[in-house]
Amino acid sequence: MATAGLGFFSSPRPPRQLCYNSRFSPLFRKASPLSPKATRFSAAINLTSATAFPDHKPDRFIDDKTVIIQTNILACPICYNHFIWNHKPQPSMYSLSQSTLECSTCQKTYYGNDTHIDLTISSGGKAYGETMAASTEIFRIPFISFLYERGWRQSFSLWGGFPGPEKEFELMQDYLEPVMGGNIIDASCGSGLFSRLFAKSGRFSLVVALDFSEAMLQQCYEFINQEENFPKENIVLVRADISRLPFASSTVDAVHAGAALHCWPSPSSAVAEISRVLRPGGVFVATTYIMDGIYSLNPFLKPFRQRFAQVSGSHIFLNEKELEDLCTVCGLVGFKCIRNGRFIMLYAMKPT
Ligand SMILES: C[S@@+](CC[C@H](N)C(=O)[O-])C[C@H]1O[C@@H](n2cnc3c(N)ncnc32)[C@H](O)[C@@H]1O
Repeated sequence: MATAGLGFFSSPRPPRQLCYNSRFSPLFRKASPLSPKATRFSAAINLTSATAFPDHKPDRFIDDKTVIIQTNILACPICYNHFIWNHKPQPSMYSLSQSTLECSTCQKTYYGNDTHIDLTISSGGKAYGETMAASTEIFRIPFISFLYERGWRQSFSLWGGFPGPEKEFELMQDYLEPVMGGNIIDASCGSGLFSRLFAKSGRFSLVVALDFSEAMLQQCYEFINQEENFPKENIVLVRADISRLPFASSTVDAVHAGAALHCWPSPSSAVAEISRVLRPGGVFVATTYIMDGIYSLNPFLKPFRQRFAQVSGSHIFLNEKELEDLCTVCGLVGFKCIRNGRFIMLYAMKPT
């Protein structure tokens, strides 16, 4: 079992002190018969940590109201440059609602509504619209987003070996330890089950709940509003495509992607984007389904997966080696994982 217990929820540790020159300690892992890099749940994972991330201070004021925040992580998805921002330096659910963000370079304006800010490239388009693969589009259906935390997500435990959100949250703590106190993107957050846990933990300076589905973001917003004393000042809800992330390069401390990698139309474009936005030493933690071991001996598996991906857009059932290679080709290092049946939680890091 991972060492963090449920007591963690009732008494979160305070965020770590921000500092510049710390070194990252190597992460400890236990070997498993599955692979030298895999860890089963039963293995204890004890990680030591140090942090190294910059203060998020705005560094240029134009006047009292308008600020260009060079160190703010949000950026135009077209040119990846900073926004002219006319609110408080730290974006939050309060400050982004109904706000407008203008790119300092291409001058495109992005608009926030009651629930989220739309930072997709096609936002604001009047005639042009794009349809994504089925594995993305299905989650835009309001009924699916309504069902998501009301049975759909729970079914992953039955057939996929997913331990469930609380346990998954507990399992990832050691992987996230080196970046505690920094910002975290919950990429493809769905209805925000992990974004809410990240925000409530008090361990991150900013949580970005990001998804392509407006319906999922609406659900996330409603769940947040249903909770008393939810810390809304350190969470923002952003609509974006995982293959075109609206963040400046090397500004993000951690990216988490729960049960989502297999839904992305191009996992390599997505992980390359994640790699671009992570700062040196930043971490990527993701869960997905795998199929390997004796299954990989089946000569029909690969052609089946290819056909399935063509039809549905879903890249389900990669194997551990493929996932490690995916991280490596996208410039991430130090691959590690925890496995249980068809469930895998993987970790990789941007080189320091
Ligand atoms: C199975 S849900 C995972 C939700 C949540 N992270 C969890 O752990 O349960 C997959 C999510 O990926 C999102 N998604 C699919 N394609 C996407 C894309 N191109 N960009 C961003 N998010 C995408 C879907 O909208 C959906 O919310």
